[in-house]
Amino acid sequence: MVSKRVFQVKLFGGPAPIVLDSKEFILVALMRRNVKFPYACQNGVCGTCKCQLIAGEVVLNSYSESALTAYEYEQGLILACRARVLSDVIIGKLEPDSDPAHRAGD
Ligand code: FES
Repeated sequence: MVSKRVFQVKLFGGPAPIVLDSKEFILVALMRRNVKFPYACQNGVCGTCKCQLIAGEVVLNSYSESALTAYEYEQGLILACRARVLSDVIIGKLEPDSDPAHRAGD
C-alpha cells in the first residue's frame, strides 16, 4: 500500500507555499487556501486550469486531450484540477489574472 506523503505547492508570484498531501489535487489545495486561480469544470475537460509546471513532479489523473494536448504536456503544462504532487512543486499561471472564468477564492 502506498502511504500518503506531504509536500508543498507554490504558485509563482503568489502567496506562501501550501502544504498538501499526495492525494489532494493542486487546484483543491489552492481553493482551500483561497488562492486566485482560474478553473471551471474541475474535471479535466475545459482546460481553464492549465498552468506551467515550473519545478517538481506531478501525476495527472485522466483528462481530455482537448483540455491538454500531448504537445502541451511535453512543454511542461499541466491541469491543476487533475494534478497530484509527487514532490514539492512550483506552478505558474499562463496568463495571470486575465481569465474571466471562475477563480478559487472569488
Ligand atoms: S478546471 Fe477544467 S480542466 Fe481543470
